[in-house]
Amino acid sequence: MKAIILVGGEGTRLRPLTLHRLKSMVPMAGRPFLEYQFALLRRHHVREITLSICHKPDLIRRAFGSGKKYGVTLHYATEDKPLGTAGAIKNAERYVAGGREPVAVLNGDELTDWDFTRMAAFHQKHGALITIGLTWIADPTSYGLVLFNSRGRVTRFVEKPSLDEARSHWINSGLYIFNPRAFTLIPEGAAYSAERELFPNVLKQGECVCAYAGRHYWKDIGTPAKYHQAHIDILEGRLPMLPVGTPWRGKHRLRIGRACRLHQTARLYDPGIIGDNCQVGEEAQIGEFAVLGRRVKVEPRAVLQRCVIWDEVVVGEGARLTGCLVGAGCRIGRYAQVSPGAVLGDNAVIPDYSQV
Ligand code: GDD
Ligand code: MG
Repeated sequence: MKAIILVGGEGTRLRPLTLHRLKSMVPMAGRPFLEYQFALLRRHHVREITLSICHKPDLIRRAFGSGKKYGVTLHYATEDKPLGTAGAIKNAERYVAGGREPVAVLNGDELTDWDFTRMAAFHQKHGALITIGLTWIADPTSYGLVLFNSRGRVTRFVEKPSLDEARSHWINSGLYIFNPRAFTLIPEGAAYSAERELFPNVLKQGECVCAYAGRHYWKDIGTPAKYHQAHIDILEGRLPMLPVGTPWRGKHRLRIGRACRLHQTARLYDPGIIGDNCQVGEEAQIGEFAVLGRRVKVEPRAVLQRCVIWDEVVVGEGARLTGCLVGAGCRIGRYAQVSPGAVLGDNAVIPDYSQV
């Protein structure tokens, strides 16, 4: 099986973190997010992956190259203007077509250990045109709602249902298997949405669209709160599948990268991650669930807890960071506080605390 990953969205809900990078490239527990999807697909023997891209195409090509490093072959299908989710799938067709094999399609912002092998077997057994992977969610209103019958056939698809329409808790996980024939039902070169156009239309035409629900870890990382929670889940060991070469597994571990300078009076708690070349000063505290990127400098007596700090951040003396997300290159002043829910974009500067 080959795969298409949709990575052409702008990641607006994750701003300001996505102002300078794609959502699929944000660091997730120290690795670019897409590496998790590569690892997942490889586990299911998918080695040829097409990234369907739109914004910042050079950035993404430079970051992931041929894919060799991750044990996969990457192709890039680039849009001149956003084609919507189905248009983007169609635009990648040339790299996956030519056989009778079904194709795995993934939204580029789902963190999961989905069993694509089982899903593909289910898809074949049911002779489906498209199989949609489902997850149970208490509040389905920010997802695609999927209604299906006792034979596992989808009967209705409602993208972002209102509270009144939300008559089920099963939502589209953004993970699909497409039969090659499904590509012929998408118009070429035009903007077309999988969720708002393709799925409702093929259902109207009486095509066989199936619903596959498995027991999986699944989370979309598209908002700051979910992005943060995904880190906590990884640190708690809830995601067994990690990128190639990740040198740590399981829970209750503090992973410390190479060439770090950690003062002997600093207090470090697990679980957490301290990236390569970090410095932690006297009596500073790196509390539980703190994730530090590379070359982060934590000055004396600063306290960090449950926060995600990207590369090259400087945390001033005595500063307190709790429950926040801090973009690359930020400067946090002395004794400043960054509170739960705060999201700082790259290079933000928080001044020193003054009692004036
Ligand atoms: N190439 C390309 N071109 N990719 C796109 C485009 C486009 O025009 N528009 C969106 N994408 C990519 C995004 O980068 C993302 O990886 C994926 O398609 C889904 O877009 P989102 O913007 O993240 O959609 P969503 O989160 O609101 O909803 C989708 O995901 C939910 C699950 O997380 C839908 O598929 C929902 O039905 C689903 O429940
Ligand atoms: Mg999304």
